[in-house]
Amino acid sequence: MSSVQELAQAAMQKVVPLLPDRWLPGVSPDPLRHPRGPLGQAVPRVDGPLKVRGEARFAAEFPLDGMLYAAVLFSTVPAGRIAALDTTAAEAAPGVALVMTWRNAPRMQPPPLMMSKPKAAGASDLPVMQDDRIHWNGQPVAVVLADTQEQADHAKTLISVRYEAEPAITVFAQALQHSRVPASVLGEPSRVEIGDAEATLRDPDQSAHVVDAVYTTPRHNHNAIELHAATVAWNGDELRVHDATQMVNATAWTLAQVFGIAEDKVHVTSPFVGGGFGGKGLWDHQILAAAASKLAGRPVRLVLSREGVFRAIGGRTRTEQRVALGARPDGTLAALIHTGCVAMTAHNNVPEQFTFPARHLYAASSMLLEQRVADMHMVANTFMRAPGESVGTFALESALDELAHTMGIDPVALRDRIEPEQDPTSGHAFSSRHLREARAAGAERFGWGKRAAVPGTRREGEWLVGMGMATATYPYFRMPGGAARIRLTRDGRDTVQATVQMASHEMGMGTATVQAQHVAARMGLPLEQVRFEYGDTTLPAGTLAGGSSQTASIGAAVIAAFDELLKQLMELAGKDSPLHGLAPGALEAHDGAIGPRDAPADRRERYADILARAGRDEVCAEAAAPPPLELVKYSMHSYGAQFCEVRVSAVTGEVRVSRFLGSFDCGRILNLKTATSQFKGGIIMGLGLALTEETLMDERHGRIMNASLSDYHVPVQMDVPAIEVMWTDTPDPHSPMGARGIGEIGITGVGAAVANAVFNATGRRVRSLPVTLDKLL
Ligand code: MOS
Repeated sequence: MSSVQELAQAAMQKVVPLLPDRWLPGVSPDPLRHPRGPLGQAVPRVDGPLKVRGEARFAAEFPLDGMLYAAVLFSTVPAGRIAALDTTAAEAAPGVALVMTWRNAPRMQPPPLMMSKPKAAGASDLPVMQDDRIHWNGQPVAVVLADTQEQADHAKTLISVRYEAEPAITVFAQALQHSRVPASVLGEPSRVEIGDAEATLRDPDQSAHVVDAVYTTPRHNHNAIELHAATVAWNGDELRVHDATQMVNATAWTLAQVFGIAEDKVHVTSPFVGGGFGGKGLWDHQILAAAASKLAGRPVRLVLSREGVFRAIGGRTRTEQRVALGARPDGTLAALIHTGCVAMTAHNNVPEQFTFPARHLYAASSMLLEQRVADMHMVANTFMRAPGESVGTFALESALDELAHTMGIDPVALRDRIEPEQDPTSGHAFSSRHLREARAAGAERFGWGKRAAVPGTRREGEWLVGMGMATATYPYFRMPGGAARIRLTRDGRDTVQATVQMASHEMGMGTATVQAQHVAARMGLPLEQVRFEYGDTTLPAGTLAGGSSQTASIGAAVIAAFDELLKQLMELAGKDSPLHGLAPGALEAHDGAIGPRDAPADRRERYADILARAGRDEVCAEAAAPPPLELVKYSMHSYGAQFCEVRVSAVTGEVRVSRFLGSFDCGRILNLKTATSQFKGGIIMGLGLALTEETLMDERHGRIMNASLSDYHVPVQMDVPAIEVMWTDTPDPHSPMGARGIGEIGITGVGAAVANAVFNATGRRVRSLPVTLDKLL
């Protein structure tokens, strides 16, 4: 047992006796895992009407007095230095307030790199506009501030820059020759070895059937509808930031380090985010906006153009992966090898965890999993829509399909044969795993039985028709460090209002709605009497919206805050109350009242009565979420099975996805509507990964060639078929509300499901994404 586990178990032994009946990480289940109140229902988004009426204000929509508009100029070489920089014409242009370059920018510290410290949010640790050095093609080299956006955009064109270019690594094949093993992959070991997988693979007595292939996935760029933007102002040494971010607290802390001020001098709000997907973190543009605002002494709005997002915001990096499988005659795995290399920079630490699925999905007698990185001169890559899992499942699940075909076993049946009893690499018990059921139900509903066993044999006119499937998986995470506050107020009508506060994020996924449902269910109040406030660093600290972790992270903090509130209420209720002497864990709330669990209504006390009797209008409680010990004790993952039907033109090679179904096992589903959208949205992104998305880099100069939505193809209406989603709705006993993450799993497995369907339709195996028609001719 590792020391971390020992510590966790010791901590649990200490905590357990104190709160025997409440949800505790990894110990006792949350009573709310069973349906109660509005949790689980198809509640419409609470922010829907605001957004439809155009009243929801996004980062670039806050008007500030005397505000200047910014335009950013980007470098055109991948490495070297700025040899000459002439800004005089720009400075003389109409409406221009100033031009900021490395020569006049305020002195700033480099942003602490994400994951290097608890609240570090830097996408890279490079200094921002502090010297003449160039590190990537697209690096900001000047910021123009003007009275209007048009004036700033025009003046930017008048700046002339001469670069002294230096040798740069802009060819992946070249970078691969100097690859390295990173110190860790998001805190996990870069290399996992069980037995001697290479030897087992070569031994025909152990590996009767072998698949050994290389799969590649291209670089992808973030393209949220809302452009990255910040509206900032200084008030003395206090910095106010209206941001579009998935991490308000980490942004505030990191900006404070950059400008050398106290964390509480930076006030970040982000009430709405028009899509994040991992890309809405802290990049150069927020730092530049704040620096330029300081220099000008006026508020600044900086909105990156669509091209600017491609230049200055990193996305998913490219991967080259080897998957080798050695199978016994019954399909069980003697060897599973998943290794490979991704492009990264020397100044960031997101190695695209593509081996993570293989660490937890299947039983194999020997394993070799290893990740390498190859440094290139490019904008720092970052998290993007199920980083690792989306591209890792493409390779792993394609290889399994190849094995199934080689052995003449149905792909669904093959996966059933390699279901593990426990986590194959950690040895931990699964908290809850119903992948087999999800797969069977999905196959049944999709009509998987009608799939032609022999590829290329189903044809309808010009169209070759095929079906493919793949496993979806994404880990459960709960981030440490969050706290929630609940304020319970008695109103004039002798009822109560609950306001719950936590600095979390609404990026369109339904956080505010689901947490209002959660609080209403937990506190036994109607939805109308609950408000959830978020997106503001003056509220109790939240955790980032990322890693499909936010719902559980908020949930745990709300549970802790409600316990605290119950303690206060019981004290106010006094000795004559039926609540006297009970532990918070023995209470349950229904219909605006609290009482012993399962007690009849007359043994309950109404919130309003307790407050009235005590002469109080309000009671307020705040508490931090317990550390995520459940993660130490159990292997916790969301699962799914993706089913795809494609039609491939025998004439042009064009691929049309005609039907898609995702069947998921993600614990309890908290809102039918928003969950459906999360799953479907994920699948649509998966279709982009499978068929259309690819960032094209000019290898001579490291410059992105398709930096626009007309050249970088995200799926549009006509690319997306009818998508059906379904789920087991089986609660996880070890997570708050019995729920696991649903934000990212929809993307995973889609690339392989499509490629496997294309193989079934045509007999052509495409091992490099995207599956474009040139690869099928
Ligand atoms: Mo997600 S890539 O963790 O926003």
